[in-house]
Amino acid sequence: MRSNGCGDLRKDSIDAVVQLCGWVDRRRDHGGVIFIDLRDRSGTVQITVDPDLGAEAFAVAEHLRSETVLQVHGKVRARPAESLNDKLATGAVEVLASEIVVLNKVTGNLPFPVSVHDEENTREELRLRHRYLDLRRKRMNDNLRLRARTIQVARRFLEDEGFIEVETPVLTRSTPEGARDYVLPSRVCGGDWFALPQSPQLFKQLLMVGGIERYYQVARCFRDEDLRADRQPEFTQLDIEMSFMGEEQILQLNEDLICAIWKSVKGIELPRPFPRMTWHDAMERYGTDRPDTRYGMELVTVSDIVQDMGFKVFSGAVKSGGAVKVIAVPGGNDALSNVRIKPGGDVFSEAQAAGAGGLAFIRVRDGGEIDTIGAIKDNLSDEQKAELLERTGATPGTLLLFGAGETAIVNKALDRVRQYLAKELKLVQPDRQNDAWNFLWVVDFPMFEFNGDEDRYEALHHPFCAPNTDDLGSDPAQWATTLPSARAQAYDLVLNGLELGGGSLRIHDSALQRQVLQTVGLPLEEAQEQFGFLINALDMGAPPHGGLAFGIDRMVMLLAGEESIRDTIAFPKTQQARCLMTDAPSSVAEKQLQELHVSSTWVDPTDDED
Ligand code: AMO
Repeated sequence: MRSNGCGDLRKDSIDAVVQLCGWVDRRRDHGGVIFIDLRDRSGTVQITVDPDLGAEAFAVAEHLRSETVLQVHGKVRARPAESLNDKLATGAVEVLASEIVVLNKVTGNLPFPVSVHDEENTREELRLRHRYLDLRRKRMNDNLRLRARTIQVARRFLEDEGFIEVETPVLTRSTPEGARDYVLPSRVCGGDWFALPQSPQLFKQLLMVGGIERYYQVARCFRDEDLRADRQPEFTQLDIEMSFMGEEQILQLNEDLICAIWKSVKGIELPRPFPRMTWHDAMERYGTDRPDTRYGMELVTVSDIVQDMGFKVFSGAVKSGGAVKVIAVPGGNDALSNVRIKPGGDVFSEAQAAGAGGLAFIRVRDGGEIDTIGAIKDNLSDEQKAELLERTGATPGTLLLFGAGETAIVNKALDRVRQYLAKELKLVQPDRQNDAWNFLWVVDFPMFEFNGDEDRYEALHHPFCAPNTDDLGSDPAQWATTLPSARAQAYDLVLNGLELGGGSLRIHDSALQRQVLQTVGLPLEEAQEQFGFLINALDMGAPPHGGLAFGIDRMVMLLAGEESIRDTIAFPKTQQARCLMTDAPSSVAEKQLQELHVSSTWVDPTDDED
């Protein structure tokens, strides 16, 4: 149907007779001559329709609406000097139409303009409802191509390294990755339910027992969790597992993979090796296990300096086992008024949203004088003041923001404030389209964290991560005691403050696996019932193995400079986990439910009581 792509025509095509297909991007009637911007996946080219040179074509062009699908026959010619368009790749040429065939008309109203000229400012709800139109726009079209390219490079790299792609079941049983499961009733096995996989974790481990040695999969995962800009209920992992490799080799191989992707997709040579930070340091210095290291403003612990102060908010926090930490904001005196830090202010609200009661602050003035409100200043000795300034590196103009209380809440609040201020003070570009690519391996995660509400340990990653052998000790009789505080041989790859991927070495010893499951509160019989298939397999010659999984949607989001993973997925769900285009999820016929041995207890809260 066509000889060339619209966007492929250049000066060297002049005088060629071409046949193009595409959509009407825009049509301009210049009294006598009609110009059509014709768009296909390769780009846009100007079609010129002159009634003197093609009367029939002109008659068709007179009535064309945007997004009409056309086939155009014509001859390429140089554009006159005054209409050269150097913003367009095809801007030196135009196609003089001799024949225009309408392949399909637009009869309905377009809910929004598709043309690149009008791309911004369309409500996301409309874009998602008519996603097929949104995909026709350059931005989304480019994002899907970038996604495909990313996956293509990853596949090539892994296949060259001897990995093979193996598909694992989607109808399966629950894997504990920490979110709620999507479940499906079985018609055949009445009363039983499948769970959609939160990840292929157990299957990939079983593939290692199966001698595959090097596995990968572009795997769809399903998690019923609260959604955010970087979370979807169904998302895609680049899932990897390998046998007979230690942590160091696994990290190296994955750095190679990431570098290959960035080189090929962005043309960027990433500096090696990626920096590493222990989980403990990350929490201490940034209050989070996925620190954005593109800017400073690290958290500084000052508990020891203020623990005996008369200012009870500080000393009380330390005495009750908590912490006092500070962020030093260079230039913060000018940038942030008291109103913004006090109750009702935007900075205060950020801290409050993370559970903190508020933020104490000190302004450092010329000559190292300090200025504050409330009781801090009166209770601070000269010695303490000097120590504070020294430890935080504060210079005149610096604003010191203090978090005091339970360590976890202080970390959470200051992490949030730090990220907020980085945007406010323009330390990072708001759209993540920053040239800085700060990769960071966070290593040595703890195996567990204690859930006070449920009075039990929870696996920080998942309960199949291998513990650090030094922390565990070699005597199995001691494991019940050594495990709870052991570090895991687990690692996350963080990029500019976002968790791009994570993994670990796995347990390949059944006794240790049982002990870990017991530690997270699964009695032996229950562990056997839920994970017997894994534990039995470990007893049949499971090789040492480990791996990791990258979030492909997040990776593409960052590569594309997008703010949300919805812009990297062809047909994403909304924040309410709904597809606006197909209107899924939807109700099903009562008969279908009966066949599935299910009845609904749902009561529509908007229904009248009677
Ligand atoms: P984890 O749970 O850390 O590890 O997931 C791996 C990566 O998947 C991405 N991700 C998501 N992306 C979009 N929406 C979501 N709801 C979502 N949840 C996770 C993140 C994350 O880093 N089985 C382990 C991996 C392993 O141990 O090998 C796992 O799934 O980028």
